[in-house]
Amino acid sequence: MKILAIETSCDETAIAIVDAEGDEKSARFRVLGDALLSQVEIHKAYGGVFPALAKREHAKNIVPLLEAALEEAELLREDAQALSGKTRAAVVALLAREPGLEEQFLEFVGECEPPAIDAIAVTEGPGLEPALWVGINFAKALGLAWNKPLVAVDHMEGHIFAALAREAPAEGHLLQEEGALLQIGDAEMPVLALLVSGGHTELVLMKEWLRYELVGRTRDDAVGEAFDKVARMLGLPYPGGPEISKLAEAARAAGQASPFTLPRPMLDSPSCDFSFAGLKTAVLYLLKERTGVGGAEKRHIAHEFENAVADVLWKKTARALAETGARTLVIGGGVSANAHLRRVFTEKMKEEYPDAALHIPAPALTTDNAVMIALAGYYRALRKDYARDIIARGNRALAERR
Ligand code: KG4
Ligand code: ZN
Repeated sequence: MKILAIETSCDETAIAIVDAEGDEKSARFRVLGDALLSQVEIHKAYGGVFPALAKREHAKNIVPLLEAALEEAELLREDAQALSGKTRAAVVALLAREPGLEEQFLEFVGECEPPAIDAIAVTEGPGLEPALWVGINFAKALGLAWNKPLVAVDHMEGHIFAALAREAPAEGHLLQEEGALLQIGDAEMPVLALLVSGGHTELVLMKEWLRYELVGRTRDDAVGEAFDKVARMLGLPYPGGPEISKLAEAARAAGQASPFTLPRPMLDSPSCDFSFAGLKTAVLYLLKERTGVGGAEKRHIAHEFENAVADVLWKKTARALAETGARTLVIGGGVSANAHLRRVFTEKMKEEYPDAALHIPAPALTTDNAVMIALAGYYRALRKDYARDIIARGNRALAERR
């Protein structure tokens, strides 16, 4: 089954085409096309993602990205296509709110054959609603023009599937030319997922495929948000996670212990909930106490901040593993790219939960992309969980998805 997937929840516009086969227990995926455009450079000037700009950029770039993905997948067949008057009117109505998209869309679908795909998966949330709507309306318009069913995927669910996917053993020499081969197959239930991104920090339990229960969540800031805010206080550009990580790794490489101590909020509280606002504020006070913070001090602060984050994330995850008896731990979301976090979790799992499996996404799949939406979309399509209507769900937590 070929899935075309669309991701526009934040500041990456992405379209992927994945050929999937197998059942839930053993699925294999070949990435046929993967087109992604990051808006990070545009948002840097604002120190964070500016929603109206994100929406405009998605609308501007999504058709060229679709074309690139189809071309890479060798699914682009040029041919004059006339949409029926009814379909055309429906498409125009759908795209009315996405400036500039309607014309590009009509021109593109008017010039190519409907491609040989079986379903269109799209991120319905969480994320920035104006941004999500671009992808959703685009998916609906494509579904109408090409007569393909739609699948609604939760962005955080996408991060879970990205982490569960492993690179499949290579078979034959053509593989490199034909795109990455991934497989999902050895996930023993229940699966506990630690989801750490710019907008979310939660522990979610999956006892069966696509069913989620909330185990813990942040009571204030998300981890990625804390990284981004602390980075900004240190005068580092957006997104702050990779910048803090660079400084912290430099301090570790120099073998220096940090002279600073930051709090570990809620570390010993009897729940699996997190809090990061206090940690962020502690950095703010620390900076207020001194005038002119130099490079060495910044590295020490970044180092201690990362240590504090990793301590809290591990302790709460360990509590959740003990409470739920999970057999598999997954870390997903942009912050799972963090080198220190990856090391801490790998070591601690070996020491304290040697019988449970740890899945961390391949570096290329940690930040937002559309391949992860295709993977989760396939699992939904396998269940024939096709969407009749899709609306943007900017704030919905994964465990609230039915
Ligand atoms: O999942 P993601 O790409 O987008 C959202 O869905 O939010 O996550 C983005 C977040 C940002 O806050 C960014 O600073 C953080 O992930 N991030 C990192 C690293 N790479 C990205 N945080 C810490 N260390 C990193 N290496
Ligand atoms: Zn994300």
